[in-house]
Amino acid sequence: MNTTECIMTRRSVRKFTAQPVPHDILEDIIAAAAYAPSWKNTQISRYIAIEGRQAIDDIATHYASFNKQTLSTAPLLIAQCCVKKRSGYERDGSFTTDRGDGWQMYDCGIAAQTLCLSAHEHGLGTVIMGIFDRGALEAYLNVPEDQELVALIAVGYPDETPNAPRRKTVTDLLTYVK
Ligand SMILES: Cc1cc2nc3c(=O)[nH]c(=O)nc-3n(C[C@H](O)[C@H](O)[C@H](O)COP(=O)(O)O)c2cc1C
Repeated sequence: MNTTECIMTRRSVRKFTAQPVPHDILEDIIAAAAYAPSWKNTQISRYIAIEGRQAIDDIATHYASFNKQTLSTAPLLIAQCCVKKRSGYERDGSFTTDRGDGWQMYDCGIAAQTLCLSAHEHGLGTVIMGIFDRGALEAYLNVPEDQELVALIAVGYPDETPNAPRRKTVTDLLTYVK
């Protein structure tokens, strides 16, 4: 699969088979995500792999009910966290730009897409989920004090082949300045 094909054929998958995701494949995907660009190469993205059926169901019921249907078939849930106060910061703790700590979300977004594309290359489906009770889920997952939970990513072998939602055209997206 070439890069363009991988980008164009990746879809958010919300229904998975029961087949578990082998650890060697998960680790390949995380290794690929580590090659995403990041602010001054700070590499702030961290991943918690949740594989237990009961744990995923608990998360779906108590902390992520909007995504309960998707989570009900996901054999693997990745909680993407970020190390705080690195991306966008100077060594003295001040912000480098007027974006403040916004660059940490930027870095995590790139890492998440890299992870999803690598998963797709391995025949896995993924969906990034942003709707959950962050504070309560951070406590449930014991997210370290110096990190925060950014996104949940369900991973598994697809049990559906969704069509691509409509995309804006290049004319809508691109302007030139001469
Ligand atoms: C930051 C972010 C948050 C998202 N949150 C959710 C979510 O909570 N639940 C969900 O089903 N999909 C979620 N999505 C997936 C989007 O709905 C999906 O990427 C979009 O509709 C385009 O479809 P595609 O990924 O198949 O191209 C999220 C995507 C992003 C990037």
